[in-house]
Parts: sequence; structure tokens; C-alpha cells
Amino acid sequence: MLRNTLLYLSRQPQIFRFVRHNGLAKGFASRFVAGETITSACDAVVELNAAGISATLDLLGESVTNEAEARETGRQYLDLLDEIHRRGLNANVSVKLTALGQDIRDELCAEVTTEILERAKTYDSFVRLDMEGSAYTQRTLDFFGQRLYPTYPRQVGIVLQSALRRTLDDIEWAIAQGCRVRLCKGAYLEPATVAFPEKRDVDATYVEGMERLMTRGHYPGLATHDETIITRAIAFARAAGIGPDRFEFQMLYGVRRDLQERLVREGWRVRVYVPFGTQWYPYLMRRLAERPANIAFIAGNVLREMVSRR
Ligand code: FDA
Repeated sequence: MLRNTLLYLSRQPQIFRFVRHNGLAKGFASRFVAGETITSACDAVVELNAAGISATLDLLGESVTNEAEARETGRQYLDLLDEIHRRGLNANVSVKLTALGQDIRDELCAEVTTEILERAKTYDSFVRLDMEGSAYTQRTLDFFGQRLYPTYPRQVGIVLQSALRRTLDDIEWAIAQGCRVRLCKGAYLEPATVAFPEKRDVDATYVEGMERLMTRGHYPGLATHDETIITRAIAFARAAGIGPDRFEFQMLYGVRRDLQERLVREGWRVRVYVPFGTQWYPYLMRRLAERPANIAFIAGNVLREMVSRR
């Protein structure tokens, strides 16, 4: 119930305007978002790299409403790739196709995305297509499989969500393509017709998909903070003789830093998803929905910020 309310609120732009206008929740945001600029995001990556952790950088922002915004987002990603290269960071980028014009015109989205992939190719870097709500799943996979992957097989990969009933089939499709998959549980509010209402089914599908990707997939990214699943992945890798160079764990910036560091100490690869930019509200609300205990944290921050401004 609470999760659904928070996910509903994540889609209310007028609430974000209020929160941002009044400077609320900035302190809380800084725990999960690496500032609003390319420089602040890259500074955060320097720290992660020093701790043996790689990164994927995400310029926050979802569906754009006009062509100029899509092109501007694309331009910022080019600057970001340049800066990652210039500073020699161990980082790649994650993009949302709706931020690159998917809801406006496929051709526009293809043009902007191709430009990003061309730049990534120059630097031998990598671009992950984040997965959004289920209304975009097939469109994203078609766009990836038909327009991007054939030309940029080393540069581009997808995300699949174990919350969706279709995902094990999509995993088989991805394995047949030989493409790179990030497996996550799924952060969006979905109807029971397409997604499992019970968390235990989401988790069971995650484990099944993870084991298939680890054995037959191409360098999967296991994106989860679920310690039971991570322990299982490690046991599975050891039993099957799958080395630490064959997959990576992925976690979100600011979430379970203890676990990120422990895995690195134990010799596993860890990549942290580093979001940055001015459009942090929907991202933050999804993080709250995942762990309502964070509400106490946000409430404390908001109160502190209000008091300090008096
Ligand atoms: P689960 O929600 O079961 O949580 C397991 C444990 O992790 C919790 O008990 C808690 O301890 C900890 N935890 C989880 N979330 C937390 C939080 N916000 N704050 C503090 N602790 C927390 N989704 C999507 O739909 N499309 C995408 O492209 C991506 N991309 C992506 C990349 C990366 C690198 C990650 C890690 C995640 C995503 N996600 C995503 C989000 C993902 O779908 C999912 O919503 C979150 O990862 C939370 O699910 P867990 O797998 O961590 O398990």
C-alpha cells in the first residue's frame, strides 16, 4: 500500500516542483544522488574507483516532451563520455530511451542514441539502456535488437526485470543474441497481468534468471542489494567454476555501501549506479518505495533543513 502510494507520488511533477522550489529533501537526495553536475558525478566516481568499485553514470531525467530536450540530453551524455575519458575513470553510462526521445519519434531517438554509441565506441566504453515501465519493454527490446545491437554489439546492453512474467523468455532471447544483460527486480508499479504480485515470485524468478545468465549469458550485471541472492550467486559461481571476471554485482549509489566494499574485499567485481542531475525526484521516490524505512531518514533531513533555514 505504502509502496504503491510512493510510486504514485513519484509520477506527480507538481509535487517535485514544490519539493525542489522549497529546497526540501536536498540533504536526503545527496545520499543517493551524486550532485547536479557532470563534475560532481565524476568526483563521486573518483572515490568509488579508489575503493576498487567501477561505476555507471546516469543523467537523471525521464520522458522528454520535445525534440530540443532529447537532443540536449544526448549532448550532455557526449560531454559525460568525454569527461569520463579525460579523467581516466572506470565508468560507463546508463541511459533511458524516453529521455532520448522514444516517446516523440523513433527516428529522433535512434539518431540521438547512435551519436552516444558512436562516442562510446571511440573510447571503447559501454552504454546500458535502463528499462522503464512494462509499457516500454517490447519497444525497448525491439529498438535494441533491430537498431542498435547489430551495429554496436560491444557498446550496448539491456536491462531485464524479474518482476515481469515475460522475463525468463526475454533472458533466453538475450542469451541467444549474446548480448549483455543487467538483471534487476524492477522498480515500477505494474499490473498483475504482466508482473508477479508476490515478492517471493519476483525473487525466485531473479534467482532462476541469474543462474541462466551466469552459465550461458555474456558478462551479466547482477543488480541487487538482496544479500540472500548475492550469497546464492557467490555459491553458484563457486560450484560452477565461474570466475569473478565473468559477471559483476551492481548496486545503487548510497545503498549498502558496506556490502559493496565487502564484496570488493572478497575479490568480486562491483559496479555502482551513480545518478546525478537536477531531475532527482522520481528516482528518489522509487528508492523510498523500495525501503520505506528511508522515510524516517528523509523526514529527519527535511526537518533539519527547515529548522536551519529559520
Ligand atoms: P529488494 O527490494 O528485495 O531489497 C533487498 C534489500 O536491499 C533490502 O532489504 C534492503 O536492505 C536493501 N535495499 C534495497 N533498496 C534499498 C534502498 N533504496 N535503500 C536502502 N536499502 C535498500 N529498476 C528498473 O526497473 N530498471 C532499471 O533499469 C534498473 N536499474 C538498476 C540498476 C542497478 C545497478 C540497481 C542496483 C538497481 C536497478 N533498478 C532498476 C532498481 C531495481 O529494480 C530495484 O528496484 C532495486 O534494486 C531494489 O531491489 P533489490 O534487488 O535491491 O531487492
